[in-house]
Amino acid sequence: MLPQKQANECLDCHAPLAERKALVAQIQAWASAPKTPPPAHVPATLGHDGLVCAACHVRGHTRFGPPPRSGKPAAGGPHGGFEVSAAFEDARFCAACHQFPEEGPRVAGKL
Ligand code: HEC
Ligand code: HEC
Ligand code: HEC
Repeated sequence: MLPQKQANECLDCHAPLAERKALVAQIQAWASAPKTPPPAHVPATLGHDGLVCAACHVRGHTRFGPPPRSGKPAAGGPHGGFEVSAAFEDARFCAACHQFPEEGPRVAGKL
């Protein structure tokens, strides 16, 4: 069990959603853990999941995605459309989690 302060460094990349951090805090019984169960839209399993779709595609209950490939509309579809964001086409999207500075955090000696 990691102390919360140390674990928070990991959660920024491994569990970027606030909803998931709250569940992890409850699982770990950290002092800051919410006292109430999560809202209905949060699946109970989320606290144990890896990087879920929503981690990259949902912010503030809005779905985001890349500019549609030719012929595909951003409206309609199974989720009633999504907000187009150019950020999905940019390598910096991945770099925030995958590019480590030399002095960055290490696990078992590896960045
Ligand atoms: C800056 C973002 C970032 C931070 C901070 C971070 N990680 Fe990671 N971690 C990653 C990425 C990205 C991978 C996947 C790398 C790969 O597989 O090439 C990974 C992989 C791992 C793995 C291997 C998972 C596997 O399935 O092989 C473990 C274990 C891990 N991290 C633990 C931690 C711990 C513990 C911390 C906090 C001390 C931490 N990480 C902090 C981004 C991060
Ligand atoms: C690590 C971040 C990340 C995660 C997690 C993620 N996506 Fe994406 N997704 C992206 C990016 C970036 C693109 C844009 C890729 C491109 O333009 O080639 C994308 C594109 C898409 C597209 C559009 C594909 C197209 O043909 O234009 C769909 C649909 C999609 N994701 C669904 C999902 C689903 C479903 C999940 C979970 C199973 C998921 N994504 C998880 C980052 C992510
Ligand atoms: C929010 C942080 C985050 C972002 C943004 C992100 N990743 Fe990751 N990625 C991770 C973590 C954490 C893992 C390790 C997952 C695990 O093992 O649980 C991972 C794993 C991977 C892996 C699997 C590596 C392996 O060894 O199996 C690939 C490939 C990958 N990411 C590519 C991308 C690409 C491409 C993008 C940009 C479109 C991206 N990631 C954006 C955090 C991120």
